[in-house]
Amino acid sequence: MPVSTNLTPPIQARTVLISGASRGIGRAIAEQLLAQGHRLSLGVRRPEDLVDTVLDRPDVQVHPYEASDPAAAQTWVDAAVARYGGFDTVVHSAAVFSRVPLLFEASQVGEIEQLWQVNVMGPWWLTRAAWPHLAAHGQGRLVVLVSMSGKRSKGRLAGYTASKFALMGLCQTMRNEGWDQGIRVTAICPSWVNTDMAAAVQAMPAEAMTQPGDIAAITSQLLQLPNSCVPFELALSCNLEM
Ligand SMILES: NC(=O)c1ccc[n+]([C@@H]2O[C@H](COP(=O)([O-])OP(=O)(O)OC[C@H]3O[C@@H](n4cnc5c(N)ncnc54)[C@H](OP(=O)(O)O)[C@@H]3O)[C@@H](O)[C@H]2O)c1
Repeated sequence: MPVSTNLTPPIQARTVLISGASRGIGRAIAEQLLAQGHRLSLGVRRPEDLVDTVLDRPDVQVHPYEASDPAAAQTWVDAAVARYGGFDTVVHSAAVFSRVPLLFEASQVGEIEQLWQVNVMGPWWLTRAAWPHLAAHGQGRLVVLVSMSGKRSKGRLAGYTASKFALMGLCQTMRNEGWDQGIRVTAICPSWVNTDMAAAVQAMPAEAMTQPGDIAAITSQLLQLPNSCVPFELALSCNLEM
């Protein structure tokens, strides 16, 4: 009986929508998946941000996407279907961060509304628009950048934490409602990641944080796993939390 020495099976190419691909974690995921031969449709607020980058290629779709605009998700999904005939994966990375506290100023209500619109309704609208295509594939994937702030409250981040707990609730619902259609969901929950979002963090040096490329590597692995082996939640603390 022949013994296989090929321990790394070939990558199965997927067709992947990535929000927040202009910078940070979404950008790192896009670059990693492109290098591995996946087909990409990138949702960004300003497509010109990707001009003259490694993602500026004829075989990569870059589409305008404003997460707080309810119509934007369907327009982007329609464009991806027109380009690729369908897709099987969505990576939700777009979000905003805010330090709005529990005892917020009246002038900060708009910030709370923006957190809700971008961090919760954005992924919700996009999931809703993408759902029929993920279900049609039979092994659809949703990778959602949540946060440790979606699992526990730390510091004085009431607005951001509330938005990420709500997003985690959505992830659990996506898992439940998508299960029988073969859709698998992974909520990635880092603490600090070395991107613009964490640039003002004083608690630890940037090199001690989780690096965006490491989350890209994890995402790449997730997309290769069979439906029977996809983790629902990945807690990625770069520091000890007790
Ligand atoms: N960095 C961390 O420490 C950390 C920790 C835990 C979880 N996360 C989560 O990981 C994800 C990625 O964060 P990151 O660190 O990569 O953040 P980032 O570097 O600040 O990038 C945020 C991304 O979201 C996009 N975005 C923001 N508002 C948007 C809107 N209204 N419509 C469409 N796109 C919008 C940005 O686009 P523009 O370039 O147009 O602004 C950018 O591409 C987020 O969900 C974040 O909450 C991050």
